[in-house]
Amino acid sequence: MKSIVILISGRGSNMEAMLAAQLPCRIAAVISNKADAKGLETARAHGISTAVVAHAEHASRELFDAALAAEIDRHAPDLVVLAGFMRILGEDFVRHYQGRLMNIHPSLLPAFPGLHTHRRALEAGCRVHGCTVHFVTPALDNGPVIVQAAVPVLPGDSEDTLAARVLAQEHIAYPQAVRWFVEGRLSLDADGHVRLQDERPGAGALLSPLPDAR
Ligand code: GAR
Repeated sequence: MKSIVILISGRGSNMEAMLAAQLPCRIAAVISNKADAKGLETARAHGISTAVVAHAEHASRELFDAALAAEIDRHAPDLVVLAGFMRILGEDFVRHYQGRLMNIHPSLLPAFPGLHTHRRALEAGCRVHGCTVHFVTPALDNGPVIVQAAVPVLPGDSEDTLAARVLAQEHIAYPQAVRWFVEGRLSLDADGHVRLQDERPGAGALLSPLPDAR
């Protein structure tokens, strides 16, 4: 059975969705860069080993990345899952985990990398918004797309209502992507292309219908 390490910085609802999905893998550890991340309590309550590698205690990005990699590699995971991990990781770190480092971002990339994605989607007048699970490359919130989930932007949406609609899809898309990986059906090939074996057509595209179209 494959093993994964999950990195979080806060609430940890994507991590929780993975626990609930009962994935066929061992969750070797949950690691946070913040000691007060709420998700750490949730992980402990599930009997999962946790660790904190505090970025504030490291003099440079390179030293932080090295300490984080050392903590991860103690578990020799097959996959490292960034689940709301809000630190930019350096190029050496990303290359070290090439093909086995996954992230979820709350937008339909390449639109809106970075922060405040829901606010920016509303300001831009987007009619659809969503989330993206991707393999991580050195560029921020970028890399080969594994699965995207699209939701409508509805009249009267606030940042919060839109975020909640996207988050519900994140909780479906991310466990699905990790499941593909740990089942050996998903990989990144040498040319940087995603290889996915799923017989369902359009398996990497999740569309949330309009409420009146349900
Ligand atoms: C999620 O919406 C995730 O997509 C986002 O942070 C949130 C974490 O929530 N990640 C990023 O913005 C990464 N650039 P969670 O802690 O409840 O999973």
